[in-house]
Amino acid sequence: MQKSLFDEPDKQFRSLDELMAAMMQMNDDPLADAGTNVVICRGNPQAKLMIVGEAPGPQENIQGKPFVGKSGQLLDQILQAVKFDTEKDVFISNSVFRMPPGDGGKNFRKPTNEEIDYYRPYLLEIIRLVDPKIMLLTGNVATQSLLGLTGITRLRGQWHELNGRKIMPIFHPSYLLRNQSRQPGSPKSLMWQDIQEVRRVYDLLVG
Ligand code: URA
Repeated sequence: MQKSLFDEPDKQFRSLDELMAAMMQMNDDPLADAGTNVVICRGNPQAKLMIVGEAPGPQENIQGKPFVGKSGQLLDQILQAVKFDTEKDVFISNSVFRMPPGDGGKNFRKPTNEEIDYYRPYLLEIIRLVDPKIMLLTGNVATQSLLGLTGITRLRGQWHELNGRKIMPIFHPSYLLRNQSRQPGSPKSLMWQDIQEVRRVYDLLVG
């Protein structure tokens, strides 16, 4: 595996800014040769609700922020539907910090297990520094990275506890974009159920 800032045992950063500055200089990571940009986070680092996605896509690679393309717009709408302010109440990051370059005619692909493993200590350090009370893992990659589990259809909507944080896997918004039905039991209707449960627990824990 490539060299990492976390090869040094017990490596910790003093602030998110310091970590982000170091990440912006990364050149040994598995996607460095792809030449895509380092994309780390958006939202409020003081927020108590953190959302973890998969990896930047083409729009995120251009703008340098996670979830700013079509699936990001849907994510914002879902959060706003239960009155979260996406600038103030939410902090958003990813499991992998560069866009994996495309193959087979697409301009990006899913991250590999090696890529997910490599970037995990960076994600864990972001989480430690931001210290959210509640985390939502969108889709299989984030759920694999942080809970070591896959099977989002079965796992979505269930709370897990990790280091005192409440963690819920939810569908990835890009999956909802591909499944537009609102029938009972459809991905969109299940997401609506899940986000209302998130709002309920947020009100209890954060107020
Ligand atoms: N999908 C993700 O998982 N993350 C992004 O930042 C954009 C799209």
